[in-house]
Amino acid sequence: MNSNESLKDTLFTKAFTENPYPAYEKLREEEPVSYVLLPDGQYAWIITRYEDALQALKDQRFIKDFTKLSDDDEMGHDSVFSQNMLFADMPDHKRLRGLVSKAFTPQMIAGMRERIQEITNELLDEAAGKDYMNLIDEFAFPLPIIVICEMLGIPTVDRDKFRLWSNSMIEGSNGEYAQDINQHMNDFVQYLGKRFAAVRENPGEDLISKLIISEEQGDQLTEQELYGVVSLLIIAGHETTVNLIGNSVMALLEHPDQLELLKSQPELINTAIEEALRYNDPVEFSTSRWAGESLEFKGKSIRKGDLVIVVLNSANHDPNQFDDPEIFDITRQKSKHLAFGKGIHACLGAPLARLEGEIAISSFFDRYPNAKLNASKKDLEWRTGMIVRGVKELPLSL
Ligand code: HEM
Repeated sequence: MNSNESLKDTLFTKAFTENPYPAYEKLREEEPVSYVLLPDGQYAWIITRYEDALQALKDQRFIKDFTKLSDDDEMGHDSVFSQNMLFADMPDHKRLRGLVSKAFTPQMIAGMRERIQEITNELLDEAAGKDYMNLIDEFAFPLPIIVICEMLGIPTVDRDKFRLWSNSMIEGSNGEYAQDINQHMNDFVQYLGKRFAAVRENPGEDLISKLIISEEQGDQLTEQELYGVVSLLIIAGHETTVNLIGNSVMALLEHPDQLELLKSQPELINTAIEEALRYNDPVEFSTSRWAGESLEFKGKSIRKGDLVIVVLNSANHDPNQFDDPEIFDITRQKSKHLAFGKGIHACLGAPLARLEGEIAISSFFDRYPNAKLNASKKDLEWRTGMIVRGVKELPLSL
């Protein structure tokens, strides 16, 4: 076995899930574009250097719509989740993104500040007087799901159903919900179908109503795409932000000097959130594409149809781009991290995620300045699946 083979054996182990950065460092040095076996049995090229990641994210020879790879006209998307901008190439991408992007302009999002603060205060009030809190269940999860449900006009009482269904899809076929994944997908589709019927009867000002109006007004959005776009917003709108909040609180608690600095200079909150995004990006192995043609990339011959994954967390720890990348420094300036991707698929929800992160973290430490991790780091369980990076639970003493 050569050294690269043994390096690849260290990927996707429990130790790797807890701390992938030493393996990423080796990959960046020894084989920055590397062909590896993923836990789901597929092979993929993984790209780990910052410069290469940036280039690949902008390279439209890497495509998102895998149905284009087959001559079989019958080959379709197999999931409710897949007909949306994240899995579309030009020109469909532009049409689909255009339909929802109006709801995500920085001005629209800034207008949500007060409401996000209100939801945050209510959630933090619920923990008042308690000695302990599970940050993920009690705060990091409810905040973004309530926000996205309100934007979409979905009753927030149904949020736990979304948590189950989207966790199931995110963890995928090797996650803990593997046996129930089909059932969960069906339940999700049925729920959305009922919701769309209700909105058609009685449209409002919410985003689903606006999308349904565009669907009815012409051929801008198909029924399948309506399902795809709404499910993407529900899943992308909370799964990542839950982990932004969890990972940020964890990084600050693990670096008490940085937490003290933030407490004494609250205006550092924006750079603190950017640093938390860089240090432990909530997106793990999900920034994937397909080679739309056979091509050469950084000296590797990539065949048409090969799966290609840009590993953002590795790019964000590349010492050629970031000084002392393993140091968590909330004063880091102009960080240019890739946590939200780049190119045409760059995160549409970034202004919303940043605002939620800023309000959540500032308000949490204002309210609970003495919060401590109530577990040793080795007892924290990381989420399985390869899509998001974050812990399942974050027990804190308040
Ligand atoms: C795309 C990260 C929050 C909606 C992406 C991509 C990344 C990302 C890396 C690009 C994926 C790729 O190129 O393959 C994150 C992170 C978040 C976050 C780290 C939180 C910390 C959100 C939120 C929403 C959202 C709150 C919506 C409410 C989307 C959408 C896309 C996307 C719709 C697809 C854009 C396109 O293909 O044009 N996100 N995201 N994200 N994100 Fe986010």
